[in-house]
Amino acid sequence: MKLLEDRIRQDGRVLGTEVLKVDTFLNHQIDPELMAEIGAEFGRLFADKKIDKILTVESSGIAPAVFTGWVLHVPVVFARKNKSLTLPDDVWSANVYSFTKQATNHIMIDRRFLKADENVLLIDDFLANGQAIEGLLSIAQQAEAKVVGVGIVIEKTFQKGRKILDERGIKVESLARIKSFDDGNVFFL
Ligand code: G4P
Ligand code: NA
Ligand code: NA
Repeated sequence: MKLLEDRIRQDGRVLGTEVLKVDTFLNHQIDPELMAEIGAEFGRLFADKKIDKILTVESSGIAPAVFTGWVLHVPVVFARKNKSLTLPDDVWSANVYSFTKQATNHIMIDRRFLKADENVLLIDDFLANGQAIEGLLSIAQQAEAKVVGVGIVIEKTFQKGRKILDERGIKVESLARIKSFDDGNVFFL
């Protein structure tokens, strides 16, 4: 998606060798017009699928997920994060280890909002090591929901997330695919 790649080139800041800071339009301040374009693009990419619901993880997945849900006319459910070890009984949950934050989050979805045989699209802001998406896949499996695809705003192809999802035969659509960072510059695939 050229608009997104241009925005990443213009506003993204590369931190070290593997982190891209995009807090001017995605991770802190949000650009609603860009999010609307992102929602429209995911809507086109998944137009041929039967989708009942979109799942994401708080907080940064919510904006692209909601704009996509608006385009596809389906509800959006975000998994909540809870650092405490005590969880209510009536939730589907998974542990998600974050390499960038070096911490484990429990993510959970109330069972009322995810039922057996629902067709779900997973959306997230970044695909890095794939831990967040794996957590959502686990939750979908527990609920016996069907994952019809994964939509990612920014994929870092040099980390292992895409490989994990490809090996599982899951359709992944990423709007920007980063090949590498070098000397503060972003190179797309
Ligand atoms: P993973 O989900 O693919 O395994 O990623 P990882 O554990 O490496 O990343 C943990 C958090 O950092 C996730 O957000 C993920 O979206 C985000 N992240 C990963 N790589 C980058 C990057 O290059 N730049 C930025 N800005 N974020 C990255 P989170 O902890 O769920 O936080 P949030 O959704 O509340 O923002
Ligand atoms: Na995220
Ligand atoms: Na994030």
